[in-house]
Amino acid sequence: MKKRKLKKGPIIILVSTILAIILAIVFINLYRYYTSTEYKLGKVGYNEKEIGELIKLDKKIINYALNDKYDKYLISLTRQKYFIWSNYDIYISYIKSKYKDTQVDFENVVATVNTKANHEAYSNTVVTDMDKGYSILVNKHYSLPDKYAPDDIVKMSNLYAYANNSIRKDVYDAFKEMSKAAKDENITLIVNSSYRTYETQKRIYDEYEDKKGKAYADSVAARPNFSEHQTGLALDIFTPGAGMNNFESTEAFKWLSNNCYKYGFILRYPKDKEDLTGYKYESWHYRYVGKDLAKKVFDSKLTFDEYYAYYLDK
Ligand code: DAL
Ligand code: ZN
Repeated sequence: MKKRKLKKGPIIILVSTILAIILAIVFINLYRYYTSTEYKLGKVGYNEKEIGELIKLDKKIINYALNDKYDKYLISLTRQKYFIWSNYDIYISYIKSKYKDTQVDFENVVATVNTKANHEAYSNTVVTDMDKGYSILVNKHYSLPDKYAPDDIVKMSNLYAYANNSIRKDVYDAFKEMSKAAKDENITLIVNSSYRTYETQKRIYDEYEDKKGKAYADSVAARPNFSEHQTGLALDIFTPGAGMNNFESTEAFKWLSNNCYKYGFILRYPKDKEDLTGYKYESWHYRYVGKDLAKKVFDSKLTFDEYYAYYLDK
C-alpha cells in the first residue's frame, strides 16, 4: 500500500502559531511582573511579607512607599488608628531618638508626637485657637492669649461650691444639672476650685515652686496662661469629707467617672497618662467641653490632648 505523505506546510504553520502564542503569554506575564507594584516595592527594598501587607493598604501609603526610600516603620506607623500623615517625619525622628535599637511602641510614638509631648514642656508653645470655643485645648504646648480672662464669669452659690468660687455661666448651668442628678443618687458634689485669674494661677504655681521646686510644681500645677482654670471651663470637684488625697476612692468619683460626660464634662488628667497630659493623675479636675464632644471623648477613651490632635486640630 502506498504511504500517505504528510504535508509539512500546515504542520509548520500550526507549530509556529502555538510557539508564538506561548511566547506572547510569557512576554505579557514578564511585562506584567516587571511593571507590577509588587516588583517595584521589592526594588525599593521591601521583602515579600512587607509587600503582601503593603498592597492591602491605602493607595497613598503604597505611593509613598514607591516614591521614597525603604522605610521599615512605614507599615507599623500607618496602621496606627491615630496616625496623622503630616506628623510622619516627626514620628520617624522621634523613633530614632527614643528607641535606638529597642522594640518600638508605635501606639505610644503616635500618641506622643500627636500631642507634642515629644517636645519639652513650655519649649515650643503656640497660642491656642480661641475660635474652638468650648473645645479649646490648653496645655503645656498650647497657651491662652496672655492674661486671658473670660467675660461671662458668674459667682457660684455655696449650695454648689466652697466659698469664693466663680465659673463661666454655661459651665455653672451644666454643673448644677449634674449636681442635681448626682443628688438624686445620694451623691454630693462640691466645687473646690474653679475659675482662676492669671494672677491666682501664678500665685498657686509659685507657691508649689517655692515649697517643692519647679519639677514638682510643673507636675501638679499649670503656669499662668497655660491653665484650664484660667479658661473658666475647669472645675475641681470634691465631695464632703474627701479632698485631693482620697477623692478617687469615693462614690462621688465613681459616679462622675460614669456620668460626667452626660453633662458635658470630661476627666482631664487621667491615670497613667502623665506623659501625654503633662500632669499627675487628678481624679478631681473636670473640664467642660459641651455634651456632644464630652460623649465623643468619653467613648474614644483618649485623653483630650490626643482627641484634639486627631479630631479637632484642623
Ligand atoms: N492642676 C491643673 C493642672 C492646673 O493647675 O491647671
Ligand atoms: Zn483643676
